[in-house]
Amino acid sequence: MNNIAISSLGHYLPKKILTNAELEKIVDTSDEWITTRTGIKERRIALKDENTSDMAIGAAKEALKNAKLDGSKIELIVVATTTADSCFPSVGNIVQDAIGAHHAAAFDVSAACAGFLYALTTAKQYLLSGMYKNALVIAADKFTNLLDWNDRQTCVLFGDGAGAVILTPTKSKKGIISDYLLSLGKYHQIMYVATEKRKPLDKEKTEFHFPYAVMHGQELFKVAVNSMAEAVEIVVERAGMQMSDIDCVVPHQANDRIITAIAKKLKVPKEKFFINIHKYGNMSAASVAVALYEAVEEKKIQKGSNVVLVTFGAGLVAAANVVKF
Ligand code: ACO
Repeated sequence: MNNIAISSLGHYLPKKILTNAELEKIVDTSDEWITTRTGIKERRIALKDENTSDMAIGAAKEALKNAKLDGSKIELIVVATTTADSCFPSVGNIVQDAIGAHHAAAFDVSAACAGFLYALTTAKQYLLSGMYKNALVIAADKFTNLLDWNDRQTCVLFGDGAGAVILTPTKSKKGIISDYLLSLGKYHQIMYVATEKRKPLDKEKTEFHFPYAVMHGQELFKVAVNSMAEAVEIVVERAGMQMSDIDCVVPHQANDRIITAIAKKLKVPKEKFFINIHKYGNMSAASVAVALYEAVEEKKIQKGSNVVLVTFGAGLVAAANVVKF
């Protein structure tokens, strides 16, 4: 049977940078608190007219360019996002039009921060079945659209961005070797987007922030560590590998302390984990996609590398893959 390989990567990051020092002027927080509690120093913020679809298109075009592939050749587009420009059309539809993939199927997948790996695993199955010969998988989120900028418990954590990969069948040993998808719906109230307006948290302000994300950080922290560590163990075992066979782990970038705790739990040196949270914060579905792109760019992942991708998100959901490059 063919393997399904990641044959090309792309990314898109908004140009606007918001530093911790700038956040100090917006909410009652400090660079010291954000840095020590999360590892984040700055994040990218999409402009008002810079939509999730614009970022998805930017990432898709770079992946196509790197693959030297014309958009018209793409047969399937799967976009992971929870911040589509609107309920419909899907971001996938808009990307299809922009890259000229006129004969492609396109749809979005909603699995919050775990969306990229849910989309990757979904697209892989279409290719394995023989239904399509290639797929463009994109993760794009404008999470700052869901932030109440008066709520210091959430607004310091997130940023915007997009990553993309092209999947193609290969007869070689490289490819997505194993998969793991989990839903823990019993925790759906730990993080959600509120459906009703609330009074401004800052009493001096009158402006309502809506919609906005609500998060119970400490509870999330614990489930994140346990579910991601378990996900890594399961995909490594499913790949027929040992943890020592893994060259690089690309985890969801929600909190540097979560990554430290997972490394400790798995007894894997933290140096094997690729981390870029200091530059971007948590970009929801795009986090692992952009981190994977940068790990390849920085040659932390090379030909022959065994890589674990692992993530979790609101839902709660967790997902992981072992990929041989
Ligand atoms: N600046 C300053 N102080 C703050 C801030 C802030 N930005 N936010 C909270 N605090 C205060 C709190 O009010 C509290 O003060 P108190 O002790 O006087 O009550 C104190 O800091 C400690 O707050 P905790 O919530 O206990 O801080 P904690 O160490 O748990 O860190 C954090 C909070 C960073 C949110 C952490 O719990 C976390 O990372 N959780 C996981 C979040 C996560 O993974 N989110 C991604 C979800 S995935 C998705 O799908 C989007």
